[in-house]
Amino acid sequence: MARVALVTGGSRGIGEAISKALKAEGYDVAATYAGNDEKAAAFTEATGIKTYKWNVADYEASKAGIAQIEADLGPIDTVVANAGITRDAPFHKMSPEQWKEVVDTNLTGVFNTIHPIWPGMRERKFGRVIVISSINGQKGQFGQVNYAATKAGDLGIVKSLAQEGARAGITANAICPGYIGTEMVRAIPEEVLNSKIIPQIPAGRLGEPEEIARCVAFLASEDSGFINGSTISANGAQFFV
Ligand code: CAA
Ligand code: NAP
Repeated sequence: MARVALVTGGSRGIGEAISKALKAEGYDVAATYAGNDEKAAAFTEATGIKTYKWNVADYEASKAGIAQIEADLGPIDTVVANAGITRDAPFHKMSPEQWKEVVDTNLTGVFNTIHPIWPGMRERKFGRVIVISSINGQKGQFGQVNYAATKAGDLGIVKSLAQEGARAGITANAICPGYIGTEMVRAIPEEVLNSKIIPQIPAGRLGEPEEIARCVAFLASEDSGFINGSTISANGAQFFV
């Protein structure tokens, strides 16, 4: 039987590359998204990967969506918590709404994604949990107090889950991408990107979504079982922990 993987935010950007890479490795993949029906339909048309729509910030919706995927494909043994958003502003301009939206999606959304799947992984004594954090959770970033806090929090989730899951055959790891060429990065004002961001990347370029997907495929594989609680940085030498 093929292994079953769930990729949240798996219909575009980094998540799209992850969904495709896992499918190429032989997994049955379910990709979720929040609202962009057109992109999700085009993704399914192009890849044959089924998509499911719910808001990761909503626990009951996550639970119901995951139950549906398990009914359709079988027990999920690999979960990639990838869905995330930015609401950038300097702290003095950041609204409580911008804070809450990012926390609800990027931090609570990770809890909501893993929590309904975790008991089944414990019972079956196998699981792979992979969380897409960020370089900016490691180093902080001008204009991202909200986002950096959630991505640092995601690393805390992974390190704790690694300790809880280890004896049940479950690993939990994080990937901290640097700046990757997706719509999230294209939303940065061009002048800021060119003057403040790219010059800080020794590689002199943005990363490709596929470069992150390869890290996911590695961590998801059965022989990565002793890699647990780790963080893989893939950032073109922009930052070292
Ligand atoms: N470092 C130092 N100063 C900076 C700066 C930086 N990185 N970015 C902006 N500034 C300065 C500007 O030069 C400007 O200075 P002056 O007032 O002296 O001219 C000032 O801050 C701009 O202040 P404003 O009040 O006008 O700011 P704004 O309301 O226009 O918003 C911002 C600024 C939203 C933070 C904008 O600069 C921005 O989008 N920055 C990019 C933030 C970023 O890196 N986001 C990452 C998104 S992608 C992602 O998150 C993926 C991932 O994980 C890597
Ligand atoms: P993206 O291109 O904006 O794609 C985001 C994906 O997440 C889309 O599929 C989107 O669905 C989905 N999504 C957003 N909010 C959601 C919600 N509330 N519920 C369910 N799905 C939701 O982003 P990306 O650049 O690929 O980023 C993917 C992840 O990598 C994020 O966690 C991000 O923080 C992280 N990351 C990105 C970079 C980078 O440079 N791009 C760097 C480091 C870390 P819709 O299509 O329906 O909107």
